[in-house]
Amino acid sequence: MNINISKKVFAPVYLKHHALENTDRYLILYGGAGSGKSVFASQKILFRLLKEKNQRFLVVRKVAATLKNSVYELLKDTISRWGLYPYFTVTKSPLEITCNLNGNKILFVGIDDPEKLKSIAGITSIWVEEATELTQEDFQQLDLRLRGKTKTYKQIIITFNPISEHHWLKKYFFDNTPEHTTIIKTTYLDNPFLDDSYKRTLENLKNKDENYYRIYALGEFGQLGKMVYPNYSIKDFDISLLDNFYYGNDFGFNDPMAWIEVAYDKKAETIYVCREFKKSGLTTSDLAQELKKRMSLRDILICDSAEPDRIEELRRAGFKNARPTKKGRNSINFGIDWIKSRKLIIHPSCVEFIKEIQTYQYMKDNKTNEYLDKPVDANNHLLDALRYALNMEMNKNHRRIGLSKHAFGL
Ligand SMILES: Nc1ncnc2c1ncn2[C@@H]1O[C@H](COP(=O)(O)OP(=O)(O)OP(=O)(O)O)[C@@H](O)[C@H]1O
Ligand SMILES: [Mg+2]
Repeated sequence: MNINISKKVFAPVYLKHHALENTDRYLILYGGAGSGKSVFASQKILFRLLKEKNQRFLVVRKVAATLKNSVYELLKDTISRWGLYPYFTVTKSPLEITCNLNGNKILFVGIDDPEKLKSIAGITSIWVEEATELTQEDFQQLDLRLRGKTKTYKQIIITFNPISEHHWLKKYFFDNTPEHTTIIKTTYLDNPFLDDSYKRTLENLKNKDENYYRIYALGEFGQLGKMVYPNYSIKDFDISLLDNFYYGNDFGFNDPMAWIEVAYDKKAETIYVCREFKKSGLTTSDLAQELKKRMSLRDILICDSAEPDRIEELRRAGFKNARPTKKGRNSINFGIDWIKSRKLIIHPSCVEFIKEIQTYQYMKDNKTNEYLDKPVDANNHLLDALRYALNMEMNKNHRRIGLSKHAFGL
């Protein structure tokens, strides 16, 4: 069977760099948002799946739960755009795509599912999506899995946004590039398929957050200024062993809804970020449906006090304990200082929270170039939800040490 795929389906920048034929061990596709990296990776995998024999592709992200709505949907979408659905069998459980013409397979696995990862054998190539989510150790373990003889070339495609010049990926692939590596940098300007409103959003970042503009529009490695929360670490822990849970929610629609579950260990002055939920385009009643899967109706849920109507909607949807943050003690700086003076441990499954905290920094005075006592107000939805969740704890402390709100100049 001869299936022809027109060159027109590919963004020209990848063809210009011969990325489709590239057989290097490491193919690094990095750069700004919306530059077509993920689409191209999915296209290359399908292309190889159709053209080569004995292929078993592994598609990897840090967290298994994020695979279905991202890489799996994207590969399905590419199959359907190419009109090739009759030639593939797509299953949800297990998450798998099989080419009916030759038995080639695409398997999906999360690094947070080590048992499954260990059980997968005979891999011939790998795609690591959103590679900044992985630690260097995660990556090296994966790299070791791709050894031995295969009929065609073995390749690891790595796609990511360059969130920080201090990230291990920068040192590993850019400062000391390993042999057999190809690096292709792209931005939204390289993607002729992108819609105008998305382009405008990226261009508007320039006025909102210089660092974000650098990373997501220009595709350059982020330069961290003064971080708001230097006190965090990302560590695996067993959520079921914790107690004293708190829930916080930041409302949004175009901006995302952001919900967070944290546990607070008072003795150890340690905050555990346990679970997150972040999604745009949800109404308050959509949000209530999502939250019912994640918390009990009895739990106390602290929300942004600026949106009393939406809090009332949550109450009517059954969350009787949806409450606003306490007035006077919800100043951003007070909350930040409180959180900063404690230990913050983030569960590795909270990938969106990790993205926010890694780039959350203080504003700079344009004239003097000095840092202001004010964080950049962008991409801080889950971070706001964190402050709300802990608002009651903050208030307890507040009373105990006998400070009036005037002490904080509120
Ligand atoms: N070859 C293509 N054909 C059709 N549409 C495409 C193609 N490449 C990209 N697009 C469109 O551009 C959008 C952005 O592409 P993609 O998601 O691959 O970008 P990305 O570089 O992975 O972005 P991010 O850095 O945000 O993950 C896609 O959702 C799709 O609508
Ligand atoms: Mg992508």
